[in-house]
Amino acid sequence: MCLERIYTRLWQCLAAATREGPQPFKAMQAATIGLDGAPDVRTVLLRSVCEAQNLLTFHTDLRSPKVAALSREPRIALVAVDTDRNLQIRVHGEARIIRDGPARVDAWHSSDDRSLVAYRTLLAPGSPMSQPCDAFGTQPGIPGPEEGLKHFCVVEVKPARLDWLDLSDGDRPERARFVRAGDTWVSGWIAP
Ligand SMILES: Cc1cc2nc3c(=O)[nH]c(=O)nc-3n(C[C@H](O)[C@H](O)[C@H](O)COP(=O)(O)O)c2cc1C
Repeated sequence: MCLERIYTRLWQCLAAATREGPQPFKAMQAATIGLDGAPDVRTVLLRSVCEAQNLLTFHTDLRSPKVAALSREPRIALVAVDTDRNLQIRVHGEARIIRDGPARVDAWHSSDDRSLVAYRTLLAPGSPMSQPCDAFGTQPGIPGPEEGLKHFCVVEVKPARLDWLDLSDGDRPERARFVRAGDTWVSGWIAP
């Protein structure tokens, strides 16, 4: 495949990942540098993709360690795999935390209710507790949705580098790199 087609396919794969239900590349591993200087990584779900704006988003909890880490060091790396097709996409870029404004509220309202329950915990992600139900506090039931919205944020990622690895043909592995230069991309082949 030529580099132009790979570039188009890469963005198509990312866009397809944001559709409802399980999709390849939806679950991405997001790597950051922690406040202690050590690397950290966790799964996030890709929520929106816009090639024209060079933008990817995921949602997270404002209280989570990754928000503190990204507020200090906004560089982020994401990787996801399509194990059926033996494809890998890596993204290096800069993250911006959207803590308020209409985009955050719209993202909250357009999210599936089940994915929003975690934002309603009284304890911040990563807080120690004696049993799982302690996260929601001592009152019966769980706090209302408005509690969740207070903790919810959107993370925008502006890719600076995209990396495509295709191992679907064992005899001809292909790897391509796209580096952002101003408003365009410089593309090239790299060794797999
Ligand atoms: C399938 C799956 C999807 C997840 N999606 C998200 C997500 O979209 N956003 C998020 O903040 N955490 C998500 N998590 C939880 C994170 O991987 C992580 O445990 C949590 O955000 C705390 O991360 P931190 O301590 O590095 O901030 C997901 C976990 C799983 C297993």
